[in-house]
Amino acid sequence: MSRRLLIVGRSGQVATELQKLTPPPGFVLEAWGRDRVDLCDPHMAAKLIASHEPAVVINAAAYTMVDRAETEPSAAFVINRDSPAAISRMCESRGIPYVHISTDYVFDGDKPAPYVETDRRNPKTVYGRSKSEGEDVVIASGASAAIIRTSWVYAAHGANFLRTMLRLAESHDELRIVADQMGRPTWAKDIAGAVLDVAVRAQAGDRDALGVFHYSGAGDASWADFAHTILANTSRFNIKTARIRRITTAEYPTAARRPANSRLDTTKIEQRLGIIPRDWREGCQLCLSELLD
Ligand SMILES: NC(=O)c1ccc[n+]([C@@H]2O[C@H](COP(=O)([O-])OP(=O)(O)OC[C@H]3O[C@@H](n4cnc5c(N)ncnc54)[C@H](OP(=O)(O)O)[C@@H]3O)[C@@H](O)[C@H]2O)c1
Repeated sequence: MSRRLLIVGRSGQVATELQKLTPPPGFVLEAWGRDRVDLCDPHMAAKLIASHEPAVVINAAAYTMVDRAETEPSAAFVINRDSPAAISRMCESRGIPYVHISTDYVFDGDKPAPYVETDRRNPKTVYGRSKSEGEDVVIASGASAAIIRTSWVYAAHGANFLRTMLRLAESHDELRIVADQMGRPTWAKDIAGAVLDVAVRAQAGDRDALGVFHYSGAGDASWADFAHTILANTSRFNIKTARIRRITTAEYPTAARRPANSRLDTTKIEQRLGIIPRDWREGCQLCLSELLD
């Protein structure tokens, strides 16, 4: 009988891409949406997952509404901290490896260089704090756990910056885009591949696959650079483009303050696991082809 690689989350960007991957022989990938497991009820979520006897649990679900979290902290903390706590404790008690996805927003963004895994976390937003405390509880559970931090995720589906740029370009000649926040755009398909790789190794008992890792697209970009690359490609697909006007963070206030530096250093996952991130520009082109071809 095939063993289950259970994905918590079904319609999210990363969850969707995980379901398109081919599991190793002897395994099946199964994804549960919130109709099957609701992370607003941590105890019930852990109980349901346990009863399914998965070989590994990949948590691709999260409260991801960064601005709304500022006024809805209890939902963010239940989904991003309390449910991972209950699920990872259940995994620990049954010897099931647990793979968790976290974020660049656990950092304050003040470091002038890319963040490494051991850098001090200092989240500045409710979302960032809920994800950071989620990491703490997963580590404290004692489960065989991998925590993979990623950043600036986009896909051909779902709510993301790439799709927003294409939509806005249809109705605007000029887009004002923040140019003083730096990060590393990550194609959901790529982070899904890295997550599955880590999950399979963890399931096989490879202790090198446990711990905290950074995975993002390779190469630096501001949001304005990202927008420029997205829209520079639109002629290829015969769709309307728009000019980019580079603005500062101060000119685009949001409820949750974004880190000025979101760059994640991926040396550890490259050297320890041989997982090499793709250049973000290439990922962007491939994603646009998937979306528009
Ligand atoms: N998006 C980014 O730019 C970004 C950046 C850094 C890190 N991350 C992290 O990467 C991971 C995946 O993010 P994503 O962009 O794929 O997220 P997403 O597209 O916003 O999808 C969120 C997922 O969470 C699930 N979910 C939300 N509330 C739930 C609940 N109460 N019960 C069960 N499931 C619930 C959704 O379930 P349904 O399938 O049922 O709708 C959906 O599958 C998250 O841990 C996120 O924090 C994301």
